[in-house]
Amino acid sequence: MSFDPGAHREESLQSWEEAASGWARRQELLRELGAPVSHWMLEAISPQPGQRVLELAAGLGETGMLAAELVAPMGGVIVSDQAEAMLEGARARAGALGLSNVEFQVLNAEWIDLPVASVDAVLCRWGYMLMADPATALAETRRVLRPRGRLALAVWDAIEHNPWAVIPAEELIGRGLSSRPAPGTPGPFTLGRPERVAELLEQAGFSEVQVQRLEVARRHASFDELWDSTLDLSRVFHDAVLARAAPEIVELKASLAERFACYTAPDGTLEIPGRTLLASASA
Ligand SMILES: C[S@@+](CC[C@H](N)C(=O)[O-])C[C@H]1O[C@@H](n2cnc3c(N)ncnc32)[C@H](O)[C@@H]1O
Repeated sequence: MSFDPGAHREESLQSWEEAASGWARRQELLRELGAPVSHWMLEAISPQPGQRVLELAAGLGETGMLAAELVAPMGGVIVSDQAEAMLEGARARAGALGLSNVEFQVLNAEWIDLPVASVDAVLCRWGYMLMADPATALAETRRVLRPRGRLALAVWDAIEHNPWAVIPAEELIGRGLSSRPAPGTPGPFTLGRPERVAELLEQAGFSEVQVQRLEVARRHASFDELWDSTLDLSRVFHDAVLARAAPEIVELKASLAERFACYTAPDGTLEIPGRTLLASASA
């Protein structure tokens, strides 16, 4: 079947609106997992006091809020996402941190509702690969950046470098509960090639393009915690698993525990490798 971008946008929006409560529950796990990624991204854009930074596909706004502290007091950050429910979580986080220089805007990164050359830097952690048309989103990103404004982004490396995702995916596919995504269609691992990321950035008109890899391990106190957090963070896993009858869910969980045994220490904690790509560029 050919890819229908309009249908993808509708499904993506609905599924991220639904996923927001699970993501809010797992905010600490995401913060720990994403911290080295966010810090790399901040260094790449080097936010200065007084600047205006835009975070796209921000989810709970973790990276943008780190930038908000650096551009304060006169500068500010626009934390944006297509899903209003994600931004609700982001507002709560900004309140808890006492940040007063963060605005929130519902927007689709393929149609950025901001004037040309209106921001100094853009951040987007684990967002572009999920979009129906990342090339358009990158062109839009460049349009809203001032000349020489900086972009920093992260996208997951290829799935084989991310066992935390390969293992549940193989389990579901093996049981006929899910299928392999068609190559090139939006999904967490679809931009998992440094040359592809560099090519997209250059085609969108960016210069000084740099792409590198970073290992990011996912740590859990127990297999149960891994199971619950996968249900909270992956809508595909959540929907496929919870549609099954209870005995099959028990069996599936036991099978996954066995598959993850090689990453489980004698005390029951897990450390599962993962790898992300990081890119920076100038408008
Ligand atoms: C994997 S989450 C990442 C959230 C956050 N950036 C982080 O690193 O924790 C992906 C986010 O991208 C958003 N998203 C996906 N496609 C989008 C689009 N076209 N425009 C804006 N947001 C989008 C989703 O709503 C979701 O909140």
